[in-house]
Amino acid sequence: MNPTKSIRVLLILAVVFTLLLAPAPLSHSQRPRNVEREIDSLLRKMTLEEKLGQLQQLDGEGNGTFRPEHPDLIRKGLLGSTLNVRGAKNTNQLQHVAMDESRLKIPVLFGFDVIHGYRTIFPIPLAEASSWDPASAERSTSIAAQEARDSGVRWTFAPMLDIARDPRWGRITEGAGEDPFLGAAFARARVRGFQGTDYSAPDKILACAKHWVAYGATEGGRDYNTTDMSENTLREIYFPPFKAAVDAGVGSVMSAFNDLNGVPASANPFTLTKVLRGEWKFDGFVVSDYTSVKELINHGLAADDQDAARLALTAGVDMEMVSRLFNQHGSQLLKEGKISQATIDEAVRRILRIKFRLGLFEHPYTDEAREKTSLVTASNRAVARAIADRSMVLLKNEHESLPLSKALHSIAVIGPLADDHRSPLGWWSGDGKPEDTVTPLTGIRAKVSPATKVSYAKGCDTQGDSTEGFAEAVAIARDSDVAIVFVGESAEMVGEAASKSSLDLTGPQLDLVKAVHATGKPTIVVLINGRPLTVGWIVENTPAVLEAWMGGTEAGNAIADVLFGDVNPSGKLPVTWPRSVGQVPLYYNHMNTGRPPEATNRYTSKYLDVPWTPRFPFGYGLSYTQFKMTNLQLSAQRISATGRLTASVEVENVGKRSGDEVVQLYTSGYLKQAQDSRAISEYAYKRGAASLLDFLDSERSYRLVQLAYRQALASYMTSLEQLKEAVGTRSLP
Ligand code: NOJ
Repeated sequence: MNPTKSIRVLLILAVVFTLLLAPAPLSHSQRPRNVEREIDSLLRKMTLEEKLGQLQQLDGEGNGTFRPEHPDLIRKGLLGSTLNVRGAKNTNQLQHVAMDESRLKIPVLFGFDVIHGYRTIFPIPLAEASSWDPASAERSTSIAAQEARDSGVRWTFAPMLDIARDPRWGRITEGAGEDPFLGAAFARARVRGFQGTDYSAPDKILACAKHWVAYGATEGGRDYNTTDMSENTLREIYFPPFKAAVDAGVGSVMSAFNDLNGVPASANPFTLTKVLRGEWKFDGFVVSDYTSVKELINHGLAADDQDAARLALTAGVDMEMVSRLFNQHGSQLLKEGKISQATIDEAVRRILRIKFRLGLFEHPYTDEAREKTSLVTASNRAVARAIADRSMVLLKNEHESLPLSKALHSIAVIGPLADDHRSPLGWWSGDGKPEDTVTPLTGIRAKVSPATKVSYAKGCDTQGDSTEGFAEAVAIARDSDVAIVFVGESAEMVGEAASKSSLDLTGPQLDLVKAVHATGKPTIVVLINGRPLTVGWIVENTPAVLEAWMGGTEAGNAIADVLFGDVNPSGKLPVTWPRSVGQVPLYYNHMNTGRPPEATNRYTSKYLDVPWTPRFPFGYGLSYTQFKMTNLQLSAQRISATGRLTASVEVENVGKRSGDEVVQLYTSGYLKQAQDSRAISEYAYKRGAASLLDFLDSERSYRLVQLAYRQALASYMTSLEQLKEAVGTRSLP
């Protein structure tokens, strides 16, 4: 994307203090008109075993093939859905069993983790959120949907909507970061991208809002661990992205592994039924996360398998992933009066409703020829590159060390991640192939002038302690005009079950940077990683640091675009970046304390051994140009709880290059988190250009979920003056 081209229009028309109604529900124009009647008629024909079969999802093989038992189960009506079975041929083969050989011909629903791309891999979701551009997420999920659909997949277990305030948790990589407002904007965009307005369309798939709920608040950042929080925090911080997804028409929700305040998510009637069905009117289905129904026993809630099935079903889980307790115990539970026929019928109804909405009955198969030409196409790759361009965050750029000239005489490209094909794809890489990845080394070679000499040395691995490769790395750095060092995390260090107690660079990576830096050559550091890392030495000692995240198939090209100035970086951090792991959880929208930190007063809220401030605040990111924001205007000084306020600000590009800027508006007040983001907007600014930016409310606005808080809001709105201090970009603390 070339930022010099034009003024980009407002991306999030933002709201300030407004409680708007949710957008109109989706129309499923293609679905048969009498879905509920068709379901009634099917339910009348189904045996209890066939009903329980619709509630079962089983795993296929990692390579996409189905398991030997699947055809027989499907033939007997005992299996309604699979995960990981993919590829047009595999899915068609299994679907033919359902459509040709089973009694009631109910199609199978094929699910898969299409998290940030199917075959064309886009930047990890945390990186995509760094663009602060939900439209990018809508484009990437829309392409992911097309590729997945062409490969027989009809359902993705995405978007992951967990607010994450703790980078020790490896799954922070899969979400949009720590902010409910940004999280909700991305939730909406991703649901729209996957599903469109009608997910029976030939290039759309069903989305799944996960993990319901508060999974990101897992204690100590340890995956699958317990969570405990007030209902206030739950509703204000953790619910909004899910509410946004439900309002955008998401057809399925996944119940999480964790317990919340002592109740496991897959047996929690408060979240699964009271909130989801009662308050939010969600009419899709809930799938349990992998074996989480059986795990109710480990949680200590269920006495045995039968009890686990009862607890999950009655709480509001409809489909059981992998464990088979609904199937094994449903009939006995019914006989003993421990569950009702209505509970089973309702779960079946919800699943069938979505199968109808998906158009699965009319179009159960996939065109096997299309898949051969429609994946990882040049145009899909171009979008992946443009999104990766926008996802990068410039963390430091002393003396305008970046961008580099394409005509340098020589460049040393160093580091374990400089030519690694796997890591840019992240942990959840769909069907992405490492051989499709453009590595940083390839991207740089393609970018520079033919006369530039590019040397490469790996230096070390991301793990272990061998420094054997240091000598070669140091030698090529000495021989070059500039050294670019690529360090961070490899794919297996992020994602599920990838919690860490330290956020430092692993293995000998930091020593490698130090050794290269000691040559005296300008040393640029590029981070390839899935979470904030504690890289204090690097930030303090090297002249330029670029956060490139795990950028997907086109990562290397995008990194070169930014390093050599074809793209002016505009990404902003969607998470607070700590100085030390001991500060975690560290997030910007924390509650006030009675003793805010003061440098000279010991008895205030801070640490003895580390500043209270983060290394980089939420919303931070540099540009190759500078912006000036002046003249904040508010449309009113006082408004009611349902009133509207418009804020506007003048933004001017006062630097030497064209660039994009994300303008952020924060509010604060009593009874709320100390800060709260309420508005985000973005324009491209030509060099020297200035324009007036209006923060307006719109249908995309953030809707506070708990009406009871309206009263509280009313009083908090009297302090609008505080807004004047809160608008702008984020600078270093
Ligand atoms: C477990 C993960 O928690 C979830 O996110 C994923 O969708 C399922 N496994 C299926 O792979």
